[in-house]
Amino acid sequence: MDFQDYKSFWNDKASTPRGALVAVDGSHDERTVRLTGAFSAAQARAALDLQAADRVFELGCGVGRIGRELAGEVAHWHGLDISENMLGVARERLAGTGDCAFSPLQGPRLDALGDASMDKGYCVAVFIHMDKEDFVLYLRDVARVLRPGGLFYFDHWNLAHPVGWRRFALEFEQAARLPAGQRKDVARNQFVVPQEVEAYVRGVGLEPVLVLDDSPCVQVVARKPDGDALAGAREAERLRNAAPRISYGEQWTTYFDAIVADEAEARGPRRLVALLAARPADDPVARMFRAWIHGAWQSRPDWGPLPADLDPAA
Ligand SMILES: C[S@@+](CC[C@H](N)C(=O)[O-])C[C@H]1O[C@@H](n2cnc3c(N)ncnc32)[C@H](O)[C@@H]1O
Repeated sequence: MDFQDYKSFWNDKASTPRGALVAVDGSHDERTVRLTGAFSAAQARAALDLQAADRVFELGCGVGRIGRELAGEVAHWHGLDISENMLGVARERLAGTGDCAFSPLQGPRLDALGDASMDKGYCVAVFIHMDKEDFVLYLRDVARVLRPGGLFYFDHWNLAHPVGWRRFALEFEQAARLPAGQRKDVARNQFVVPQEVEAYVRGVGLEPVLVLDDSPCVQVVARKPDGDALAGAREAERLRNAAPRISYGEQWTTYFDAIVADEAEARGPRRLVALLAARPADDPVARMFRAWIHGAWQSRPDWGPLPADLDPAA
């Protein structure tokens, strides 16, 4: 189907709760989405130095994969998404968790949030799926809703990293096979370079206090200026120390590269399975990828029989 707008594209993906889980990060079940949610929540927690008194928003919260892990730790959590269907699943998953609100978005603005009303916000795996104009328009409204000194953490595909480039190659090879003139998918993956993201952040009046480029994702923490140079410098110093807990890191990047390489050859995830087999059962990153690939295997009969060591019951 040729979707002309983000809302219909994502509402269609999230027309069932399982479809919504798969659409947010390829997780096929609740167990996997909790594992990946905990991983991403730890990154956001470190990036934003979350405190119990914080008022926090998530732009593009999806099923509340990350929000479910964080909402109970802060004073208020507000999830916003273009898809009402995603928000429906998020509402159910976060029921009884802290002080939460949910708002559907109608365009690249955060109308439900007042000026300078939020301490912190984050946005993971969302800007990668929109035109750059919409990305910048959202950033501009983030600058409006943050209080002075407030922080915003987000990521995007990193074209300047070799694994980011290989991920982009999947897209342009696919585009090469499209008939000329066929409309490109409105929510297709988009890619940026770190310098470009810094320009967008500065262009909307925020300060990029941390820009990580050591993985296929550019990860940014932006701060709303408050005229306090010392506070800004302290934040930058804190983030330098926190960077290893924010970064996707080498292990995640190696596994992701293996998935991309296997996908480029349109065959089962053999490289990833081999890498995972070499890791102990209690390695948390390997456990997360095992769960993820186990779920994906269920819908891919063409991958052949499931390796025994990927079965969570094994
Ligand atoms: C890949 S999912 C990631 C969800 C969530 N951030 C997470 O990491 O689990 C992308 C999410 O962004 C939302 N989204 C896509 N385009 C959007 C847009 N233009 N404005 C707001 N949300 C959007 C989708 O509905 C979906 O929930």
